[in-house]
Amino acid sequence: MTAQLIDGNALSKTLRAEVATRAATLAARGHQPGLAVVLVGDNPASEVYVRNKIKACADNGLASTCERYPATLTQTALLARIEALNQDPKIHGILVQLPLPAHIDSHKVIEAIAAEKDVDGFHVANAGALMTGRPLFRPCTPYGVMKMFEAYGIELAGAHAVVIGRSNIVGKPMALMLLDAGATVTVCHSKTRDLAAHTRTADIVVAATGKRNLLTAEMVKPGAAVIDVGMNRDEAGKLCGDVDFAGVSSVAGYLTPVPGGVGPMTITMLLVNTLEAAERAAAHA
Ligand code: GUN
Repeated sequence: MTAQLIDGNALSKTLRAEVATRAATLAARGHQPGLAVVLVGDNPASEVYVRNKIKACADNGLASTCERYPATLTQTALLARIEALNQDPKIHGILVQLPLPAHIDSHKVIEAIAAEKDVDGFHVANAGALMTGRPLFRPCTPYGVMKMFEAYGIELAGAHAVVIGRSNIVGKPMALMLLDAGATVTVCHSKTRDLAAHTRTADIVVAATGKRNLLTAEMVKPGAAVIDVGMNRDEAGKLCGDVDFAGVSSVAGYLTPVPGGVGPMTITMLLVNTLEAAERAAAHA
């Protein structure tokens, strides 16, 4: 193994301690940060994510509520709940866990969240603000990846970065953040003809596809920084990412493990966004 591991747990611990300190300061002034999490249906992965988000709030001095609804909830009822949360002064962040059941239009739901409470950074106003270089809330997963580059001193200006995946949650905002940091960015996806031809020239690879073993050692330039956003299960049911960890760790310069890499950073940045939402609200109170 030659790659240095990027430890998302350790970095999260440091960043969460800062969040806890700032949250305590706000709470002492009567403005405890509050996050509302809304979960519709019984997607098992969503259950785990939501549980971890709620626990992270409790561990770091943020108040949180979790509303659970059956998969049969109507879109109208969900939109009404969001409107009530928009009006609730104790709630600074609103997170509707995705995916939503097929009969609900997730775009409509996201647009219903007040942009100043959209701690996921998915609302068009926040996506547009990121696009135009004045972000309010950055989507948590790519934001957490940027914190990893910063913490490990990985140079982005002038680097060739390849992002694999083009989702609104990870791939697209990741590409924008890397671009803003001065990287030359290539976005690859399921229709890309020769993925390896791109990744082999990359100084930085961010894999966010949900496909196990998508990125193998021969696809990686020696010394590259490889960030694994994947959350998959192997045949034995063990959590694994998109990267062939054993192979790539002998070629890459930096590598994130799964678990213990990007996952905890996503939750950490959700705490940061919620805290900042509360700080902004308190400043205007
Ligand atoms: N589903 C998968 N990732 C996310 C996320 O970051 N936020 C929300 N709301 N849903 C998700």
